[in-house]
Amino acid sequence: MTSLEIEGAAEQIAADTELAADIQGFTPGTPAGSVSDVFLTGATGFLGVFLLEELLDRGLTVHCLVRAADVDSARDRLHANLETYDLSESTATDRIRVVPGDVTLPKFGLSDDDYAELAGRIEAIYHTAAKVNFLTPYKWLRKQTISGTHEVLRLACAATAPLHHVSTLGVFGTTENTDPRGELDTTGPAADMPLGYTKSKWVAEQLVLEADNRGVPITMHRPAQVWGDSKTGACQKNDFVWRFITGSIQAGVYPRNFRLKMNLVPVDYVCATIAAVAAQEAALGGIYHQIGPAAIDSDTIRDFIRSAGFEIKEVSIIKWLKAISADVDNAMFPLIRTTMLMEQEEPLLFTDHLTRRFLDGTGIECPSIDEKLFGTYASFFVRHGHLPAPAQSA
Ligand SMILES: NC(=O)c1ccc[n+]([C@@H]2O[C@H](COP(=O)([O-])OP(=O)(O)OC[C@H]3O[C@@H](n4cnc5c(N)ncnc54)[C@H](OP(=O)(O)O)[C@@H]3O)[C@@H](O)[C@H]2O)c1
Repeated sequence: MTSLEIEGAAEQIAADTELAADIQGFTPGTPAGSVSDVFLTGATGFLGVFLLEELLDRGLTVHCLVRAADVDSARDRLHANLETYDLSESTATDRIRVVPGDVTLPKFGLSDDDYAELAGRIEAIYHTAAKVNFLTPYKWLRKQTISGTHEVLRLACAATAPLHHVSTLGVFGTTENTDPRGELDTTGPAADMPLGYTKSKWVAEQLVLEADNRGVPITMHRPAQVWGDSKTGACQKNDFVWRFITGSIQAGVYPRNFRLKMNLVPVDYVCATIAAVAAQEAALGGIYHQIGPAAIDSDTIRDFIRSAGFEIKEVSIIKWLKAISADVDNAMFPLIRTTMLMEQEEPLLFTDHLTRRFLDGTGIECPSIDEKLFGTYASFFVRHGHLPAPAQSA
């Protein structure tokens, strides 16, 4: 196994998945279809801000937990993030309520009165907050994962509000068995996962699933690698595939025969699906996958880059690594150690049969990432200064 870390032993992980006794089942206070006020974590992040937009589009009032000293700076952070993703003009900001707090603190760091008021208002919880960093070892994520997951579950109990938890397809890890993984297939084992990030997401899932066993109403959502908005191209620049693309364009070289193959899925589809599924009472207790129509390989990405007008020369992987390592300002430089983890002989495939059942009649369909959509993404990156204009590339 290629591994960035050897810590995160099975015993430690098993202990971390023990759910506190105070989290116990309840009946939702409001039927899923009649919810009007929801609580959202992670709205200053990428997926979270698009989920915010989707929930607002559905007419909901969204109470957003934001790490900040006070309401004004929390609001400023949220608005800055809407601008980052070209969302500030389309968003119904009058239905956003900011809650300054930290998901890992007891009651998020709110006073008892503020916490009680929040619990009295909200009718569903969408939890996307997480430390998404492929370089952080599990031992530095475990405390955040354990307390963060417990705190959103405690709020769910206090508010009698279902928890809609955002996980990742990374919880399947990699094993000899290459059968496509469906929503109900076995995940883990976490101890074999090379990234602390995926270990921590698996641990969070176990806590949420134990809460489900105790009767806490939940839905669990596992997106594939999330790419930008299919209409505007807005995407996060820290996504590792985009860092790989940006770094290759910056260096003017692309690795030949690189065994990268990934399922990539536009963020607007992911968020529309999460919100549509969560709005259905019958979906409670279920696990749902948000995947693109097909996995995309390295040669296809190379062709997309060229069709968007960027010049790249194919070189051996060694030469590509040398070119990236030679420039500390290269977008891929910080992730160079993870490059080999991106290579897979046989990438895992996934299915989404249960999810599709809940999308019937909604009109929600996942767009394919093709040359045209890649061009829309590239234009967003050029417009925001994350990529050189094609004519200026190496
Ligand atoms: N991006 C993907 O391709 C992908 C794929 C599958 C699953 N997911 C899942 O989707 C979720 C969002 O991912 P992302 O890529 O959008 O990540 P992101 O851009 O890094 O956003 C993470 C969010 O979590 C918040 N957060 C972290 N620690 C917090 C804390 N202690 N208290 C309150 N908020 C905290 C961050 O707030 P600050 O701004 O204060 O740091 C930020 O708003 C994660 O659960 C991730 O596992 C993402």
